[in-house]
Amino acid sequence: MAAHAVALEKDFDRFKRELPRDFPDHVRLAYRVDLTGRYLGEPIPHPIGKGSGQLSLNAGQLEDDAAAGLAFVVLKTVIAQDETGAQSMAAWAIHETKMQVERRRSATGRTGWTVTWKGRGWDRSLEEYLALVRAGRDLTRAGGLLVVPSVKYHLPRLGEPFRESEYRHTTGRLAGAWGEAPLLLEKDFSPTLAGDRLAEDRAQILRWLSEVPERIRAAAPFAVRLALKLMNARFDDDFQREMMEAARGADALVCFNRLFDEQHGVAYGAWDLSDRNLRVLSARALTPGASPGSPGSVVASSLGLLPLSGTGNICSGRMIIEYARRGCESVQLHTFFQLPLSEYPATHGSRAQRALHALVFHPQDGLVAVLLELEALGRLERRGGELHFLDLARDAHRPG
Ligand SMILES: Cc1cc2nc3c(=O)[nH]c(=O)nc-3n(C[C@H](O)[C@H](O)[C@H](O)COP(=O)(O)O)c2cc1C
Repeated sequence: MAAHAVALEKDFDRFKRELPRDFPDHVRLAYRVDLTGRYLGEPIPHPIGKGSGQLSLNAGQLEDDAAAGLAFVVLKTVIAQDETGAQSMAAWAIHETKMQVERRRSATGRTGWTVTWKGRGWDRSLEEYLALVRAGRDLTRAGGLLVVPSVKYHLPRLGEPFRESEYRHTTGRLAGAWGEAPLLLEKDFSPTLAGDRLAEDRAQILRWLSEVPERIRAAAPFAVRLALKLMNARFDDDFQREMMEAARGADALVCFNRLFDEQHGVAYGAWDLSDRNLRVLSARALTPGASPGSPGSVVASSLGLLPLSGTGNICSGRMIIEYARRGCESVQLHTFFQLPLSEYPATHGSRAQRALHALVFHPQDGLVAVLLELEALGRLERRGGELHFLDLARDAHRPG
């Protein structure tokens, strides 16, 4: 352990100038730590990906992220349309460029980072989105990084039908651009939706969550693996867990998108977000009789708990571990890739590289340090001589 600590200090220092792209191999050899994660059933070399948003809008960003060594990227959310171009969720396809990276104090008095932005979904044409999907597909096939599109489809009021034409047209075009099964897809239920009148009715939200997966599957020309990115609804923690239950038809859940500040009409994150997310996930992990998909399973059994991907205020390896210990097999960050350069300990490289450097190699709060710490505390055991990141999610639902 002491030898590992010295080696970690050294790696942290020398990688400030340049993070090797194959750092997961290095971590495995040097520390006997297997960082493998999983997103939507796909094994990924480590658990850190980029959440959908303003940082996955063009092919250049994807190429930089592949070069930096991110495990996966979720593209900006496109607003579904039917074959005539009509969009029932058009209010989400608005143009807004200005983002403000700000400090935000939480209810418990801790200061973190949030990005204030009034925009919503993809504001260009579906054709342009499909070109981005094809660029993502090429990077995925070349083994650079896993790229996953994200969609916001029509959500009806209770008693109204779903607009099948939007589901069929948009899913069909995405599948065509991707070219082969399975199509991995994220469906976004956004914070601005949580703040919308559409989401005032609990029964209506539960219906969306239970029916949307089958609508998307029925609309697709071939197999879809679907993650639902759940919003933080404006109801209590129990309802948040009810939402997870209702979403059983998905293959994975992304937990949970940002909070909504009704007074200022904007979404926000920082510690209020991670406090709420981790609280809800902790209570879910205690559900009696629940067990997650076994390691290696592609799609979790509908009787067990769905695989999770965590999102919200992840600015350290220690926070990744908090999500993992509550069942998350991967994490999706946005804000931590947008901080002022002075906030990263690395001195060179893109923001994605600097972020990965801190998240993985920080000697106290990095992924490697915290996994070794858990071993020293007797909370994580080696298998085949190695510590495995994914064992945390596997163990999340075991008693004790
Ligand atoms: C400016 C901005 C735009 C975003 N746009 C989307 C989006 O289009 N679709 C989506 O699913 N999530 C979107 N998100 C949510 C992020 O992907 C992420 O889940 C959330 O910000 C929590 O992670 P963080 O605390 O690391 O930022 C956006 C976040 C920000 C800050």
